Amino acid sequence: MVKMATIVGARPQFVKAAMVSRALRAVPGIQEIFIHTGQHFDERMSDVFFSELELPRPDHYLGIHSGSHGMQTGRMLESVERVLIAEQPEAVIVYGDTNTTLAGALAAAKLHIPVLHVEAGLRSYNRLMPEEINRIMTDHCAELLFAPTQTAAENLRQEGVPEAKIHLVGDVMYDAALYFGEKAERHSRILEQLDLEPKHYMLATIHRAGNTDEPERLQTIFQGLCLAAEALPVVLPIHPRTAAALQQIGMFEYVKQQLKVIEPVGYLDMVMLEKYASLIASDSGGVQKEAFFYKVPCATLRSETEWTELLDLGWNRLVSMEDSQTVCRDILAALELSGKSAQPYGRGEAAWKIANMITEWRREEFETVF
Ligand code: UD1
Ligand code: UDP
Repeated sequence: MVKMATIVGARPQFVKAAMVSRALRAVPGIQEIFIHTGQHFDERMSDVFFSELELPRPDHYLGIHSGSHGMQTGRMLESVERVLIAEQPEAVIVYGDTNTTLAGALAAAKLHIPVLHVEAGLRSYNRLMPEEINRIMTDHCAELLFAPTQTAAENLRQEGVPEAKIHLVGDVMYDAALYFGEKAERHSRILEQLDLEPKHYMLATIHRAGNTDEPERLQTIFQGLCLAAEALPVVLPIHPRTAAALQQIGMFEYVKQQLKVIEPVGYLDMVMLEKYASLIASDSGGVQKEAFFYKVPCATLRSETEWTELLDLGWNRLVSMEDSQTVCRDILAALELSGKSAQPYGRGEAAWKIANMITEWRREEFETVF
């Protein structure tokens, strides 16, 4: 039995790991140990994903919640190391670009346990983003780098990552969209519950540190969204970080009057909100792509995106944050987008490719080493 440790902690990682974990369970001879750092911990940010996405119950829950970057990452590093020493897995799988990803990769690399990075090679080329540092460090700790797109694979080549380590497999989030998209139709009642008319509302999500941590920018974004809501009702499942930041600048009550503000929703409800929106405005990496999967135009509230294919194909546009009028204008302008059809994220088989590659890699590498 080959023991693999999966390390997750934040919402987008539950979605990504769900698909890979399913595929790994289908491979005879692999035992998956599931480690949850606790980075996201509310029922609606964590538990709901485990039940809806058929994820295994974590074997180890580390309970590390919030904190400054150094404190959070450092505490995770220490706790993950302890678990890895006890479990002795033959490889560690990490996802995306959060502090959980970095702590998992670093803990494993220092114990000489091979790191497998799912969603490798993404770059915004903005080092002020905490995620950018996490991605670069994780990629350079990794033995197998699973790139979701051509661009991501090319970014890795540019940084000198050996070709043999780079595997272009497609995006596991597309796998999830295909697999759970249909389940969502059968299970979610969110549109009725919120009394939303399909294709007559905008879905918005905001949580990026660069947008929430600076009061002036946060205010500009939300004033812009409130202006846009005069043209199209806006539904906002609010991230706890954003709720706290709006409270801090005294804007939360006003925003709640102008927008349909709801608690974070589970994945199946989110899929339905995305599919039936006429427009999505977001600073989320995952949500930008899901907009494309469901053929919904998207306005990205950032000055750059890692998912450049979305811009090239005409499904997404960046929003200038100059002032609230510009934010409103740029968001609504995305309604006019008419994107080209293409499949830059693979064909929904990324997780299977990853599982197969792990098996192949294990055959070549592990049997000689162990
Ligand atoms: C993290 C990731 C970000 C990712 C996002 C997904 C890092 C550096 N950032 O950002 O890349 O896009 O997750 O959503 O890893 N909180 C709660 N309840 C929860 C979770 C968080 O109240 O269940 C609060 C925390 O206490 C903290 C704030 O939200 O005050 C931010 O949480 P944190 O996990 O540090 O970062 P995110 O903004 O969620
Ligand atoms: N998501 C969700 N409920 C929400 C908001 C997001 O299920 O209320 C899902 C979303 O569909 C996507 C993932 O969470 O699959 C993205 O997470 P998030 O936006 O928090 O992080 P990012 O992708 O920006 O790292």
